[in-house]
Amino acid sequence: MQRVLTQNVARLLALSLRTKLSPSVRAAAVNMSTLLVNRPQYSWLRELGLGEDNDGVYNGCWGGQGQVVTSYCPANNEPIARVRQATMAEYEETVQKAQDAWKVWADVPAPKRGEIVRQIGDALRGKIKALGSLVSLEMGKIYVEGVGEVQEYVDVCDYAVGLSRMIGGPILPSERPGHALIEQWNPVGLVGIITAFNFPVAVYGWNNAIALICGNVCLWLDLTVLCFVFVCRIVAEVLERNHLPGAICSMTCGGADIGTAMAKDERVGLLSFTGSTQVGKQVAMMVQERFGRQLLELGGNNAIIVFEDADLNLVVPSAVFASVGTAGQRCTTTRRLMLHESVHDDVVERIAKAYKQIRIGDPWDPNTLYGPLHTKQAVQQYLAAIDQAKQQGGTLVCGGKVMDRPGNYVEPTIITGLPHDAPIVHTETFVPILYVLKFKTEDEAFAWNNEVKQGLSSSIFTKDMGRVFRWLGPKGSDCGIVNVNIPTSGAEIGGAFGGEKHTGGGRESGSDSWKQYMRRSTCTINYSKDLPLAQGIKFE
Ligand code: UN1
Repeated sequence: MQRVLTQNVARLLALSLRTKLSPSVRAAAVNMSTLLVNRPQYSWLRELGLGEDNDGVYNGCWGGQGQVVTSYCPANNEPIARVRQATMAEYEETVQKAQDAWKVWADVPAPKRGEIVRQIGDALRGKIKALGSLVSLEMGKIYVEGVGEVQEYVDVCDYAVGLSRMIGGPILPSERPGHALIEQWNPVGLVGIITAFNFPVAVYGWNNAIALICGNVCLWLDLTVLCFVFVCRIVAEVLERNHLPGAICSMTCGGADIGTAMAKDERVGLLSFTGSTQVGKQVAMMVQERFGRQLLELGGNNAIIVFEDADLNLVVPSAVFASVGTAGQRCTTTRRLMLHESVHDDVVERIAKAYKQIRIGDPWDPNTLYGPLHTKQAVQQYLAAIDQAKQQGGTLVCGGKVMDRPGNYVEPTIITGLPHDAPIVHTETFVPILYVLKFKTEDEAFAWNNEVKQGLSSSIFTKDMGRVFRWLGPKGSDCGIVNVNIPTSGAEIGGAFGGEKHTGGGRESGSDSWKQYMRRSTCTINYSKDLPLAQGIKFE
């Protein structure tokens, strides 16, 4: 575990521990009595089966011989509990066990695999409040959003159950008599899943449910360690109850060394990575180096565009939810609000008023709408971005300060007056800062939407049907998610989720995303007694 990581990639992965991928975990010795898990008001953590020290490796057996990390609560920066991470030897053992498990799982008929996924969904339904509370405590998002992301996992399980009876390829017309042309889809084998701190449950769920019905086994690496351990337990119980190898859904808590190993490992048939663009690029290069397959879900720089005919009663709550929700820590968060000059001042005033009424508090308090940032480092990134925005010509409308209370709380912030192409506007800072831009024409607004490097989510607010279809068409939004009269965040699981350009191009969850978890074979079968060649070639 203490391997020296010399490569640039490893350095970047390590950097990610402190940025978007960063959990509130630290390798530090913490006095047992100070752990939240030992305090009476957090006794529910014990009921979830969490203790002071928790195993961070599962491959049919539980383990964790590596570095011990402490998970901290972002709302008060107090230590919750500890997790023992994987060593490289445990990683190796886990990959081997996952490969053995695949031999069993690949032979299970797809609808029967769907039945196991149905049971996982049901088990999650039974624990939805407990897991939602744990997400809230460890990640820092508000309770309803914590429950909401468990709901995403439940929903994608339901979706995958249906898919397990539907996936397959066409039988195509062959140009040769007595020949069949068939498309066959097979699993890629082992799917490596690296998820980010901000959606510790849902993003794993999208990958896990779909990968499983396709006939793959999964190895999950995440850094929001307690959620990770608890989800893994729920899934492991289902597998064990059905007398299936637990290694079908393996996990290793770990850091950059495990992530690097997964990226380089030829046995990982698909690496699904969610995190920052910077780290994703390094991961992608390592996977490409071995001609491996990857699914990238990286940064966004999402815009809402408000036209002169927009229904402002929809605009204001949409912009507030998408910019302040999850304290600005969704990849789909609205970071740029483009307002037509005729509505600019009115909308800024209404949104600023709504910002001031946001109920800030403990994320697990049902009354709270806005919680802390995940880490202290994110607080520093917030302050640095505000400094840069001011230097580049921005004006603070509201927010801009760190809050005087325990935990990583910052004020949700609105900044106006920046040029549309100011460097800070083109940067994804994973914090609740909204840049408001003033535009004159549709062409200008669409061009500004598309001029950033990222291409994840985008929304317009308008009643003009012509404009709606121009927005959806070839000269409209270049993002993977293109919305009308709804926020940029909060996508449903039934659609394919992901984006273009520096967002990485991957698609997870619904629609035909399952194809990314399988390999396609074009099969031609001659059932005649002749050997006609394609293109009419005679070779005699
Ligand atoms: C993410 O932030 O990585 O669309 C995922 C949304 C959620 C998923 C966000 N359903 O905002």
